Amino acid sequence: MVFDTHAHYDSGAFNADRLELLSSMPEQGVSLILNPGCELDSSKTAVSLAERFPFVYAAVGVHPSDCAGWQESWLEELRALAAHPKVKAIGEIGLDYYWKDNPPREFQQMVFRRQLELARELDLPVIVHDREAHGDSMAIVREYPDVRGVFHCYSGSLEDAKVLVKLGWMISFTGVVTYKNARRALEIIGWLPMESIMIETDSPYLTPEPFRGKRNDSGKVHLVAEKIAQVKGLAPEDVARITLENGKRFFDIQEG
Ligand code: NI
Repeated sequence: MVFDTHAHYDSGAFNADRLELLSSMPEQGVSLILNPGCELDSSKTAVSLAERFPFVYAAVGVHPSDCAGWQESWLEELRALAAHPKVKAIGEIGLDYYWKDNPPREFQQMVFRRQLELARELDLPVIVHDREAHGDSMAIVREYPDVRGVFHCYSGSLEDAKVLVKLGWMISFTGVVTYKNARRALEIIGWLPMESIMIETDSPYLTPEPFRGKRNDSGKVHLVAEKIAQVKGLAPEDVARITLENGKRFFDIQEG
């Protein structure tokens, strides 16, 4: 059994078959799924999916690419959503300097900090999205030494990974590790203690090989476990089991 710690079933890509697909996950060996939000609506959908499926949990948050309309009142709405017992994190939050039409960097940083403060207040972990913003993401995270989190779809350096492990943070990998250009990620996986690794699909995106280009779903998270198993010299079932336990511990989930 395996835990897909990051999948967006609120996405329109699942409109045709969302409920059937999610219903099929236990028989595909997926025992837990965490669905993060990217803005208020997707956070609400994440919570309602978590209410519907016992093996789905939610995070609520505003993604840097979706933060242009941020108002302080959003913090109240996130706080109210986070009171739900199946909301296990604030996310996904962070910085994205890749897309040119994203909100200005300083604005993204303000929204990131506000949500880190919310996580600290609520004693919830955070799910961090960091794209082409490694220096600023690391610096801001270090302003909140009492907040724990995960860097999802990790794309930073080995040096930063070492710092994150020392801070007690988790590092999570997607199907990107199966791509040809994944050399650096594989080197980082080789170094990381197994206790610091989680796996995810980021569905519907980042579909692992040999399905790259198709829609992704949690049934393909096994392919991420297999790649990590190769690097670590472990059996895929052991990687699945250890990352499942890591995810349960990190998100404070008892079931699954
Ligand atoms: Ni995501």
